[in-house]
Amino acid sequence: SVSPTSILELEVIHEIPLYRPFVEKWAQVESFQARPDDLLISTYPKSGTTWISEIVDMIYNNGDEEKCKRDAIFNRVPFMEMSCPGLLSGTEQLDTVPSHRTHLPVQLLPVSFWEQDCKMIYLARNAKDVAVSYYHFYQMAKMHPDPGTWDEFLGKFMAGKVAYGSWYDHVKGWWEKKKAYRILYMFYEDMKKDPKREIEKVLQFLGKDLKEEVVNKILHHTSFQEMKKNPTANYEMMPTWAMDHSVSPFMRKGMSGDWKNYFTVAQNEIFDAHYKEQMKGSTFKCQMEI
Ligand code: A3P
Repeated sequence: SVSPTSILELEVIHEIPLYRPFVEKWAQVESFQARPDDLLISTYPKSGTTWISEIVDMIYNNGDEEKCKRDAIFNRVPFMEMSCPGLLSGTEQLDTVPSHRTHLPVQLLPVSFWEQDCKMIYLARNAKDVAVSYYHFYQMAKMHPDPGTWDEFLGKFMAGKVAYGSWYDHVKGWWEKKKAYRILYMFYEDMKKDPKREIEKVLQFLGKDLKEEVVNKILHHTSFQEMKKNPTANYEMMPTWAMDHSVSPFMRKGMSGDWKNYFTVAQNEIFDAHYKEQMKGSTFKCQMEI
């Protein structure tokens, strides 16, 4: 008989562990036809996807907060490879909106995005904070297998045996692609340090010019405190069978350097040595705290 935990084991597709319902609809993802004016937001999970998506939706709507409350963020900026029985699938939603988001590594992105030379925003976050955030997300978002203890989960994260695979390969893969494609490569830590400057970078990349007061409105609306209490941004519109915020809220801490509250000295030493090895030869640089 099939036990509940075996239902939740990840499948592997093109060597990347992924949720089974997504893999079952893979043909739809692979054949997705992007349009030249589509904008793609790409991230490794837990890197600030929701944050940058809210910023982009506010920009498209010229800072109109009420318009940005028309629906939940996961419907305003649909998740391309998403497929879940009982919820809309990402590829079905994409035709109706100008921007999409994905967590796919470069080698799994539908080729039409490269062929159409779509603009893409990649947002990276330091690996240690991602691991901590992912550990909590594994517990509250019910499509995940049991993460085990923090130490066990950290080992899986380092080995790339988590949904979407290796963080190291993901950030490096997109870092290389930006040399040849229209990719704005951003960092969560920069957004924490100077969100206004980062919003202005996005505006410039999208060829949008907004008045300073509108930029300030976007800045306010997309702050952690505002998004945490905004039901259309904080994922509380997800059914509780899919996400249980009482286990850990989706809008958890929203800070840089929280990893220091979780990594032991020994874990940190092992992690740093492994990180160095994994990132050897890459010019990718990321701040571990701000
Ligand atoms: P923490 O778990 O560290 O708090 P994603 O949207 O890619 O799943 O990423 C979720 C992470 O981004 C969570 O991190 C969440 O709190 C954080 N986040 C969401 N909105 C944010 C904002 N406006 N400012 C800072 N962090 C934000």
